[in-house]
Amino acid sequence: MNKKDLIKNLNEDLAGELGAVIQYTTYAAKATGPYRPQLTQFFLAEVPDELGHAQFLANKIVALGGEPTTEARPVPKAKSNREMLEAVLLAERRAVADYTQRAREADEIGDKGLAVQLEDMVRDETGHAEETERILRDWPV
Ligand SMILES: [Fe+2]
Ligand SMILES: [Fe+2]
Repeated sequence: MNKKDLIKNLNEDLAGELGAVIQYTTYAAKATGPYRPQLTQFFLAEVPDELGHAQFLANKIVALGGEPTTEARPVPKAKSNREMLEAVLLAERRAVADYTQRAREADEIGDKGLAVQLEDMVRDETGHAEETERILRDWPV
């Protein structure tokens, strides 16, 4: 792992976070049915966390001498509340795996501060994934 590859990978992560902000904002609008109030609240509550992650990554990429991407990862189409929750669960699990890997890469280049921050983000994304998994566990149909 060198600094250039780490910047490239952090930009992938940044695209994911920008995508997550769009995903949660859009899904909050699309939630329907008797659980709409709770789902909307649940999705919107994630936005500040993901935005904070995006801000951190953009700042870190600049600090490392890179150029932060402005292109978001595409948001999966979802036609129902269940499909939205399933798409969110996949995205959060991917974020957990990606930041686990990225923390290792940051350690490899000797950036302990970044490694610690990324591990903190593993904790955030794990919380998001677990919460979503529990909502889906007893989801009707
Ligand atoms: Fe995030
Ligand atoms: Fe998340």
